[in-house]
Amino acid sequence: MAEFEYDLLVLNGLVVTHDETGEFDIAVKGSKIAKVVPRGSLGEVKSKKTIDAKGGVVMPGGVDAHVHLDEPALFGKGESADNYETGTRSAICGGTTTLITFAPQRKTEPSLLAALEATHARARDNCYSDYSFHLICSNAGPLAISEFSALRQAGISSLKIYMTYEALQLADSEILDVLFEARKQKIVTMIHAENGAIIDWTIKKLEEKNLFAPKYHVTSHPPVAEIEATYRAISLSSFIDVPILIVHVSSPSAAKHISDAQKKGLPVYAETCPQYLFLTRKDLDKPGFEGAKCVCSPPPREGEQDHEVIWRGLENGTFTVLSSDHCPFLYDNSEIGKKSVISAEYPNGHFKYIPNGCPGVETRMALALSANRLKLQKFVEVTSTNAAKLYGLYPRKGALIPGESDADMTIWYAEKEMQEFELKNEMLHHNVDYTPYEGRTLKQWPRYTVLRGEVVWARDDGGLVGKKGFGEFLKRDVSSLAGSVSQEGWDVERF
Ligand SMILES: *[C@@H]1O[C@H](CO)[C@@H](O)[C@H](O)[C@H]1NC(C)=O
Repeated sequence: MAEFEYDLLVLNGLVVTHDETGEFDIAVKGSKIAKVVPRGSLGEVKSKKTIDAKGGVVMPGGVDAHVHLDEPALFGKGESADNYETGTRSAICGGTTTLITFAPQRKTEPSLLAALEATHARARDNCYSDYSFHLICSNAGPLAISEFSALRQAGISSLKIYMTYEALQLADSEILDVLFEARKQKIVTMIHAENGAIIDWTIKKLEEKNLFAPKYHVTSHPPVAEIEATYRAISLSSFIDVPILIVHVSSPSAAKHISDAQKKGLPVYAETCPQYLFLTRKDLDKPGFEGAKCVCSPPPREGEQDHEVIWRGLENGTFTVLSSDHCPFLYDNSEIGKKSVISAEYPNGHFKYIPNGCPGVETRMALALSANRLKLQKFVEVTSTNAAKLYGLYPRKGALIPGESDADMTIWYAEKEMQEFELKNEMLHHNVDYTPYEGRTLKQWPRYTVLRGEVVWARDDGGLVGKKGFGEFLKRDVSSLAGSVSQEGWDVERF
């Protein structure tokens, strides 16, 4: 008999699994969860390592299904500040053990498989967390469409498409082509729902008035652009009878369209992000160029009333997932960062060209938990379990099921052992020179992160202790969320 029966025990915690919350002890053997049993009932067992989680909460490792890393510049001068090494490092230090990042196809590239290969090369042997990719389809020509089944074979069961940005936008007919083939191949399609024409028209009007400051980014992305495109995405997907997920929803009225569609039984899923819970348009209206730090699309909206509606949508299930939309650009860098838009012609920059996105892969879970707004069970659903289910990783990820789930865990502090602290960018492990949440008071931070049985983050005992290259590529299966696979045939003649 081996000297140790288990490799890791996590004892005395309040354990929140995918479907229950209770006082459990957890035993890990190798990379898998071996047992989850009532507190104190493991008996006398020997383990290589034991964590006493007394007073703290233990949950499945976070799954962040919306992360941009090391993407080639698609528009403007901005280049990703994080590569797979620094982005996945930042993730594990914030309690996230699985990332689904993007493999972008350019409009000039006919093939999706080539984009997948190129992205694999960037990630291979570089990751601290486990990872998979959504394919971004920006050229929905015959070759790309014909490759959907090969993508499934390669373990990719989701795509992302855009209704805005010249470099990425698909026409409605192309969206239908994608959705129709996605239906056949049981692929979930993520949609960036903003009306590109409304945005371009509004930008032109602002330029005519010589309004270029960062805050006009908000004006140039009015709620109606998001509301109209959300309703159109729902209409197109319900015509084809295929599941979609609307990414990064910011507008209460767009959320209402989504909630109404769900009430009708349509397989419409939705995502929101911390920037729509914690930032407002005021964050873009700071002295000088400072507001550029919070330029992302859709932009942060009005204020607490809007935040409240988004929180409620998380509580009531309108939003399936809370992702980061980590899209990292340096601020103080005039070659590839936010400041690259400052020129002789535009001494205070031009909102239209500001690299679009905010970092947040490391702060997602701590910000949301510190807000103390969601029940723990709901918190686990929207930060881990639902993403695993929606994107075909469940129950390997997003759960703590003996024999089935990887031993991925986020272990939080006991309340009395945790002092409130002020978040500072220097505490973070990304490669970005700012966080939009600088100076916020946080009540929680992950004490440990465990990936496949290995402690990879121990805040008081070495900090980052995981290794680059330990993260594995995850082959994904079809979505297992209810309603996400249509059982019926489709025939144009029935309409
Ligand atoms: C759930 O939340 C959404 C978004 O906030 C809202 O539109 C909807 O009315 C809510 N539903 C219920 C039943 O409260």
